[in-house]
Amino acid sequence: MNGSQRPLRIVVTAGPTWEPIDPVRFIANPSTGRVGFAIAEEAKRRGHRTTLITGPTHLTPPAGVRCVRIQTARQMLRQVSRAFPQSDSLVMTAAVGDFRPAQPRRQKVKRRRLAARWSLPLVKNPDILGTLARRKGRRLVVGFALETHDVLAEAMRKLREKELDMLVANRAKPSGEPFGDRPVTGYLLDRRGNIDALRGVTKQRLAKLLLDRVEYLWQTAT
Ligand code: CTP
Repeated sequence: MNGSQRPLRIVVTAGPTWEPIDPVRFIANPSTGRVGFAIAEEAKRRGHRTTLITGPTHLTPPAGVRCVRIQTARQMLRQVSRAFPQSDSLVMTAAVGDFRPAQPRRQKVKRRRLAARWSLPLVKNPDILGTLARRKGRRLVVGFALETHDVLAEAMRKLREKELDMLVANRAKPSGEPFGDRPVTGYLLDRRGNIDALRGVTKQRLAKLLLDRVEYLWQTAT
């Protein structure tokens, strides 16, 4: 950000969600929250007013960033919906669980009561990004996607169908990329048709590229 531009109000989501099965078990995913924390840190460094809404992670929030901790997708939806009206941009890096147990048990499920095979009914979680992108007005909404195949075609479809301004599409590799400290390979796309290939970039570098693009889209919006 240079001196003549006003700071943006940026909401970043990060980490996994935990969807309870019973009081001692949950459904989660391997997200560590690193990319979202890196973006929040870089946004703060650039002088933007930054809110980080994160699922469970061991990471320490960057100093000067407002941090809201949640566990489930529905809690994240509530907090993002609350912060969204006062924001200029939403960056959804969180690995939101697509499903949750339909009826979490109040008491621990006892192993000795279970048969060898057990089915757990799941219901679909709300699509936070899809819900908020539809009422975004001038706000810039950025999505993330993790794909194992057809990375670019799927990214272009999601950018269009979810009415996003930008999308980072990660390729999931057998080496465990892009989880944890591993680099990111994929694409950075925007609604103006720009497509940048990302080849093994660090999450700190991705944070810079993403915020450069957010600032550029904001400054050149008509
Ligand atoms: N996301 C969300 N709410 C959900 C699930 C995902 O807001 N319930 C957001 C993530 O934070 C991320 C993007 O949506 O920014 C990821 O979407 P993705 O799971 O790739 O999209 P889907 O439409 O679920 O695509 P797919 O059919 O590939 O699962």
